[in-house]
Amino acid sequence: MRDSNVSKRLDGKVVIITGGASGIGEATAHLFANNGTRAVVIADIQDRLGQRVATSIGLHRCSYIHCDVTDEEQVKSLVEHTVQSYGRLDIMFSNAGVPSPTNQTILELSLISLDNLFAVNVRGMAACVKHAARAMVDGGVKGSIVCTASVAASFGSNRWTDYCMSKHAVVGLVRSASRQLGEYGIRVNCVSPSGLATPLLCKAYQIEGEEEVEKLFEPFTSLKGVGLKVKNVADAVLFLASDDSTFVTGHDLLVDGGYHPH
Ligand SMILES: NC(=O)c1ccc[n+]([C@@H]2O[C@H](COP(=O)([O-])OP(=O)(O)OC[C@H]3O[C@@H](n4cnc5c(N)ncnc54)[C@H](O)[C@@H]3O)[C@@H](O)[C@H]2O)c1
Repeated sequence: MRDSNVSKRLDGKVVIITGGASGIGEATAHLFANNGTRAVVIADIQDRLGQRVATSIGLHRCSYIHCDVTDEEQVKSLVEHTVQSYGRLDIMFSNAGVPSPTNQTILELSLISLDNLFAVNVRGMAACVKHAARAMVDGGVKGSIVCTASVAASFGSNRWTDYCMSKHAVVGLVRSASRQLGEYGIRVNCVSPSGLATPLLCKAYQIEGEEEVEKLFEPFTSLKGVGLKVKNVADAVLFLASDDSTFVTGHDLLVDGGYHPH
């Protein structure tokens, strides 16, 4: 693979990144901008952080838009605004997600909490794929849509039932949309990271810091002595977003060091 720091693998592309104010989305916004994008639009609900990311990339090539992905109208206008401003949409990185508020088993599952979590992780993801795909079809753009799923989509889980269910749904969305959009030349894939130190995971596990997170996950990965970083996930997203993966669609790309829960 070429060095992603110096190549221009997304030359001239117009991109939306949901959940781009923090964690994986933030790292991907920087990597995309360093790979020649014409415009990166960061969509999030954390306005201060989102503005800060856009400013650090440069407001001539990055902008921030407040968009709550649980509201389909906001997603629709995010996409419309992007197409109006930049003429097209080439890449949608649908990445916004939330953790479970509790580490419940099925015995304690709150269906109200499940609805709230699904509103972001499933409905929000579907709305982003739907409106990105419509814009690409209408504009005749053979674009790339990448969603963030999780290793939680590959296994049953002892805890966090609602989160595990929501990420399985993301893979179902990707597999279905990829079949339906193939005739338009639109590719749809997802990345599935294992655990890494972002605010989402630290909140779910109530821990702080990279080292502690890496210690928690190392027993479950084949690779030892190395922890997953946001950069590793961003590199995988760049591969799926770029022409390096032109014949890859409907794929769930695990970025997990060989994760295997006991
Ligand atoms: N961190 C991990 O270990 C891990 C592992 C596997 C998958 N993931 C997934 O990666 C994605 C990114 O998470 P992260 O780890 O970078 O966490 P993060 O908390 O740093 O980033 C998530 C971003 O999504 C935004 N967001 C939340 N609800 C939103 C909404 N309704 N509308 C718009 N934006 C919203 C948040 O404000 C935040 O900026 C999520 O989908 C998450 O489920 C994370």
